[in-house]
Amino acid sequence: MQSVRAIYPGTFDPPTNGHLDLVSRGAKIFDHLVVAVLRNSSKGAPLFTTGERVEMLAEATRPFGNVSVKTFDGLLVDFARTEGASAVLRGIRAISDYEYEFQMAMMNRKLDSALETVFMMPAEKYTYVSSRLIKGVYQLNGDISELVPPLVLERLQHKRAAQAATVAGQVPGDV
Ligand code: PNS
Repeated sequence: MQSVRAIYPGTFDPPTNGHLDLVSRGAKIFDHLVVAVLRNSSKGAPLFTTGERVEMLAEATRPFGNVSVKTFDGLLVDFARTEGASAVLRGIRAISDYEYEFQMAMMNRKLDSALETVFMMPAEKYTYVSSRLIKGVYQLNGDISELVPPLVLERLQHKRAAQAATVAGQVPGDV
């Protein structure tokens, strides 16, 4: 039987347990899943560098034997072709996601009719979780420890400490 390689693209700033839930579902139905971090997102300045996001995703997806983490730029269909992938995995949490996801899937189909988009739903407990909300709640000292992988929580703590030090007029590491 033909082996199916899929791409799970996104900004992942930062990765959440919702993303990982989707990775675990995707890893079950595809032979290989490439988690692909978009390098130059139009969403504005990210909190984490591409390298940091790749590191966090690599650590969190280590338990899966058929998942790799890469970065991409430009059109997703071009990256998928380079990777030899025949499917794109995307998560749909609520009806509000649907319109954007539908448009993206249709545009990708227009650009490459051989590339299929597969939608999966995360576990109910993650349906409200987004990277944007995680960053917002964390900045205001909310507890998000059950919603992100341990390394992401650790990295968020470092970011907050570095930001606090900058605000206080200190350079981190200075004595
Ligand atoms: O997690 P996100 O930020 O919603 O992911 C969006 C992403 C990376 C999947 C999307 O922006 C994308 O595929 N960008 C690459 C550019 C592209 O191919 N655009 C045409 C498809 S609409």
